[in-house]
Amino acid sequence: MDIFVGALETGRDFFRDAALIAFHELELFEALLSPMSLESLASTTHLEAHHLRALLDVGRSEGWVVEEAGVYSIAEVPAAPKSHPTAGWGKIAEAFRANKPQALFETPGALEAYQNHLFDLSSPVADELVVRCVEPCERVLDVGSGYGAYGLAALHGFKKARVTLVDEAAVLASGANVQESYGERVERVAVRAEEMTFDPIYDTVLVANLLHLHGPDRNRAILARCACALRPGGRLIVLDLDPAKEPTLAAYFSLNMAIYTELGRVYDVETVSGWLREVGLEELRVERLIRAPSSYVIVGR
Ligand SMILES: C[S@@+](CC[C@H](N)C(=O)[O-])C[C@H]1O[C@@H](n2cnc3c(N)ncnc32)[C@H](O)[C@@H]1O
Repeated sequence: MDIFVGALETGRDFFRDAALIAFHELELFEALLSPMSLESLASTTHLEAHHLRALLDVGRSEGWVVEEAGVYSIAEVPAAPKSHPTAGWGKIAEAFRANKPQALFETPGALEAYQNHLFDLSSPVADELVVRCVEPCERVLDVGSGYGAYGLAALHGFKKARVTLVDEAAVLASGANVQESYGERVERVAVRAEEMTFDPIYDTVLVANLLHLHGPDRNRAILARCACALRPGGRLIVLDLDPAKEPTLAAYFSLNMAIYTELGRVYDVETVSGWLREVGLEELRVERLIRAPSSYVIVGR
């Protein structure tokens, strides 16, 4: 679960209008008068294929474009909405032309508000994940932890467990009060996940809602570092949004990532499973959680 999922469920028209405005501003309907591949569209429009793919996926979900054997063509050209959001989603065309992600958390308190809300949304899911998918363990690594919803759930589940939370320094510092009551059972390490160098001491490594923020190369690097931190027989657990469950939601989520991150998008089970096998994990199994029906959990060892 992510905050954006809730926002999309309540404000779908806003996001649809913003995507449609971007289609018009980037002149994609004009360009697709001649059906073409993603790569040809990128070279015709001088835009990044990654950005275009995210917009085209939303266009497909909304019925504006169709794709057949990798060739995109127009199905319908709805008129551009009149009202225009001003920031973030209102600047899709500008951000894609500049090939620069929009800034997040610019206003004071925005990071804390986001992380607090995410912690509240993730905690019940994390409790279910621990009950259903995590074996009794003593050392837990929560990578891209935010305020630690998943790692702290493991502490509730296993009385001998200790957790290491990995995130940016600013996130860990602002979440310290959330973890205060756990004392020495919580360790905070500010390091980029793709640069972690932990000894192989962890029974369980949790990677929840992190991979959608990054491109494939960085995700491979993150998972490789996670695998190195596992003790023999330990388990790596990845939770993320499943595009197969909710294709329209996933298309909008990926567009959100294209707006706010460099190369993030939603990845399917097969892609993430392939990365996990590349870093040496075997016996992969996919679990589903009642409290996160739009997500998958992949457990590997
Ligand atoms: C969407 S939040 C998920 C938080 C928590 N795991 C959850 O599911 O509630 C992603 C977190 O990963 C952190 N993050 C993103 N890229 C990271 C990286 N390369 N290394 C470490 N942390 C990262 C972000 O700062 C953010 O707190």
